[in-house]
Amino acid sequence: MCGIVGYIGKKEKKEILLDGLSELEYRGYDSAGFAVIENKELKNFKAVGKIENLANKTTHYLSDGFGVSIGHTRWATHGKPTELNAHPHLGQYSFVVHNGIIENYQELKTKLQATGASFVSQTDTETIVHLFEYHNNKLANPFESFKATVAELDGAYATLLITKADSETIYFAKNGSPMLIGFDDNDIYFASSDTPIIGKATQVYYLEDGEYGYAKDGEVKLFDAKGEKSFHKQALSMDKASAQKDGFRFFMEKEIYEQSRVMSETMMGRVNDDSVDFEELNSYFLNGIDNIKICACGTSYHSALASSYLFERLSKIPCVVEIASEFRYKEPLLKKNTLFITISQSGETADTLEALKMAKRAGLKSLSICNVDNSSIVRESDRAILTRAGIEKGVASTKAFATQTMVLWMLSVYFAGINKTIPSEQIKTEIDAMIHVPRALLIPDGLHEQIHRLTKRYLHGHGFFFIGRDIFFPLALEGALKLKEISYLHAEGYPAGEMKHGPIALADSGLFTVALMPRSLHYDKIKSNVEELSARDANILAISPEPFKLADDFIQTSYDSHPMLEFFEMMVITQLFALEVSVRLGNDVDMPRNLAKSVTVE
Ligand code: AGP
Repeated sequence: MCGIVGYIGKKEKKEILLDGLSELEYRGYDSAGFAVIENKELKNFKAVGKIENLANKTTHYLSDGFGVSIGHTRWATHGKPTELNAHPHLGQYSFVVHNGIIENYQELKTKLQATGASFVSQTDTETIVHLFEYHNNKLANPFESFKATVAELDGAYATLLITKADSETIYFAKNGSPMLIGFDDNDIYFASSDTPIIGKATQVYYLEDGEYGYAKDGEVKLFDAKGEKSFHKQALSMDKASAQKDGFRFFMEKEIYEQSRVMSETMMGRVNDDSVDFEELNSYFLNGIDNIKICACGTSYHSALASSYLFERLSKIPCVVEIASEFRYKEPLLKKNTLFITISQSGETADTLEALKMAKRAGLKSLSICNVDNSSIVRESDRAILTRAGIEKGVASTKAFATQTMVLWMLSVYFAGINKTIPSEQIKTEIDAMIHVPRALLIPDGLHEQIHRLTKRYLHGHGFFFIGRDIFFPLALEGALKLKEISYLHAEGYPAGEMKHGPIALADSGLFTVALMPRSLHYDKIKSNVEELSARDANILAISPEPFKLADDFIQTSYDSHPMLEFFEMMVITQLFALEVSVRLGNDVDMPRNLAKSVTVE
């Protein structure tokens, strides 16, 4: 959610900033901008919409002498996506970029306006630059002024500030939103995640909450509440992980197709002939644990919900799943015999991160399941299992969901093995099924074309219900979320057996029902539920191995004996369905409106 890039050095700055912002664009793409100070001269460019608009606007600008520079790509929180609201924000002689939310900005703004500051944007961010100049006009000391500014900010932020009052320095602060510093000889880079600096910096330092400081003359001075502190840089991989589309039309499409391959990576070294092992865990760590609580948001929440069936069925461990933003404020009762699991693709989701911190404060053991190494959630957790999905750029998550669900299934079998809750033959059955998952994720010839053709009938009507039972209920939730995110059509996921308790009132010829009808789990039950909808004239798209006479449309899947194989096969179909509806509606599949890849605000 929003992206920040900064650079001090002699290299051409526009290219470094635009290149870095492009890497972050999928996180927020309402507007973008950058500012440079070179020879005490301030330059500032902004554009609404994608980075290419900013690039087009700055074709004739070059900055190749020594200078300081900051850039930002925005996902609007306060104020509409306009140029005035785009970052960097200018005071009289300083610029600021910021990710996060300044919670007390209204109070600060009122105070600053009373001293004569004039605000031009509706953002909370602009407060930072005016507050800095307010202090600096009195103290004539940019560092002390920045320190005083940071001390007055409440909320989550990662911020960079440059000022004519000290034109060779970048000031930085981090609290609750990610920020890192990259180093290469005398060049210093800043970014809100490591992709913009991979291939540029060789070493990195990931800032911790409460840290602030400045970079000047090839050096960084770091401080926290206790004063100046030393820090250790770590090597940064030079392998540019930046995903390319590889001939696919969209990143999301590429990511759907690569699920079969990445799933093998997820299992590698973990799924053995007759056991599942995680080098990240051991029985000592799990000693005393007799229940699991999982917190996550969005798609990650859906994978958690699916796994709760598996933890109870296979590991015989009570498992409760909560949406992180709800968990935070419910004053939860936390007991030390609970393993607290967080799931996050990005590892930066503010609500999930805060839930994790609450659990840690209560003394719980924590485990995260995440796709991004070194992310805030990974660093905050006692133990972390990486999903190994590779960088996911489509805002609508696909392969991250698949690999999260896989890791959780593996984990449930791992616990079953440790606690001997199911016979070894059943563990073997689970493992045999796991090994077949990459096959279940392959997209057979003709399937994508079939889905493309049938989607033309699903562009109107008054909404969608995705229905399923058991683990197929969370999959229904996920199918509906995918469709909503990129088609902007209303879709709901529902437990099939619950339809008759209210939602069936919506059933008529304008209602589309996507029915997940696996053969290996409660087939007769869900069949009855779908028949009830069909009897009320709803349009039925049935996804099942078993031909279903009442279906208006039918996508046939394989007769697999294990429900998880049916789960993954149906998951791909719902993903392709959402993709094709979105394409037909002419939407931006990879960067759908109003969304961002990483939600680092509450
Ligand atoms: C997925 O398609 C969504 N864009 C969104 O629901 C996402 O899963 C959610 O914001 C949580 O993100 P995380 O996995 O990075 O924590």
